Amino acid sequence: MRGFPTLHSLYGMAIRPNRLPLRMELLYIRVGSLHFLELQMKDFKDKVAVVTGAASGIGRGMAETFVAAGMKVVLSDIEQRPLEETTRLLLAAGADVHAVLTDVSKSDQVNNLAKQTLSKYGAVHVLCNNAGIGGLSGDGNGTSWTSSLDDWHWILGVNLMGVVHGIRSFLPIMIEQDTEAHIVNTASLAGLIAAGTLYGTSKFAVVGLSENVYLELQRGGFKPKVSVLCPSFVDTNIMNSNRNRPAEFAIETSAHAEPVAAAMREWVTEQCKRGLSPRAVGEQVLAAIRDERFYILTHPEFNPIIELRMKDILSGANPTLRPPPSVAARDG
Ligand SMILES: NC(=O)c1ccc[n+]([C@@H]2O[C@H](COP(=O)([O-])OP(=O)(O)OC[C@H]3O[C@@H](n4cnc5c(N)ncnc54)[C@H](O)[C@@H]3O)[C@@H](O)[C@H]2O)c1
Repeated sequence: MRGFPTLHSLYGMAIRPNRLPLRMELLYIRVGSLHFLELQMKDFKDKVAVVTGAASGIGRGMAETFVAAGMKVVLSDIEQRPLEETTRLLLAAGADVHAVLTDVSKSDQVNNLAKQTLSKYGAVHVLCNNAGIGGLSGDGNGTSWTSSLDDWHWILGVNLMGVVHGIRSFLPIMIEQDTEAHIVNTASLAGLIAAGTLYGTSKFAVVGLSENVYLELQRGGFKPKVSVLCPSFVDTNIMNSNRNRPAEFAIETSAHAEPVAAAMREWVTEQCKRGLSPRAVGEQVLAAIRDERFYILTHPEFNPIIELRMKDILSGANPTLRPPPSVAARDG
């Protein structure tokens, strides 16, 4: 049909609708909305999800939520024992799950995760790039210049490159598959406001990466969707991340050299204990996939701090200095 726009070309034009003649614009809305309804992931039964960092905390909460929604789940983690234990418990409860030991900082291992997923289930509909580390000594008040390069390399390798590897290994498969698909990248509230130099740098990058991938997919008219998860405190093992510190990044910045850093660490540990349950976060992630919501902000009580940062940027003010928690607590 010469001169008649294909669905793909209509999607392409969606980013510049002012160039469409009125008649075609209406057609686009009608065809586009029908197509949109068809593609939205509403029914999770038998869909395939892959979760990295699934043996603990938020990843495990997502895996449990997906299983409860009837999905098949590939559980991946760097820690073998907890991965086996999580898999055993879910299998015993009747879930269809499969474990793949994976270090997300290694691209060949994430490629292997994708390969294993396809050979086990033949498709992938949801990928949660969730594995991450925090609670390093360089977080909180460890400064950018005193933290060891090993701290920097480790945290960026897992928290940022782990997400990059997930995107590079899985998105081509999802695009080729041409079905509804969704990638959820776990960032943090610390990816939206300054809250810990090393960790925050990795999480700001994940937010920026996710926004760009979302737009790349929109521009190309591809079906996969993207969300970025930005939680505040969740009751997990994050403050014990050093359990996974690889020998190649052995030089740790001393956590307790500065009293402020030690106080900050203690305070964050306590806040995590009082934080949301991982399962509650998993439920919010499932809802966001269903609603095709990009930003997943699990702790609305922190929105005023995000707003303050945005206002500082737009008003030309400098970043607002917030007192460290110990001082803030003393001052009431
Ligand atoms: N807990 C919080 O308060 C909080 C807040 C915001 C964001 N997050 C983010 O949530 C994600 C999950 O962390 P969590 O809080 O559940 O902590 P967690 O330590 O309980 O779980 C993290 C999981 O990732 C795994 N992991 C670590 N390094 C890995 C690697 N190289 N390859 C594969 N797996 C690896 C760990 O073994 C663990 O099972 C992280 O990205 C973290 O930054 C956590």
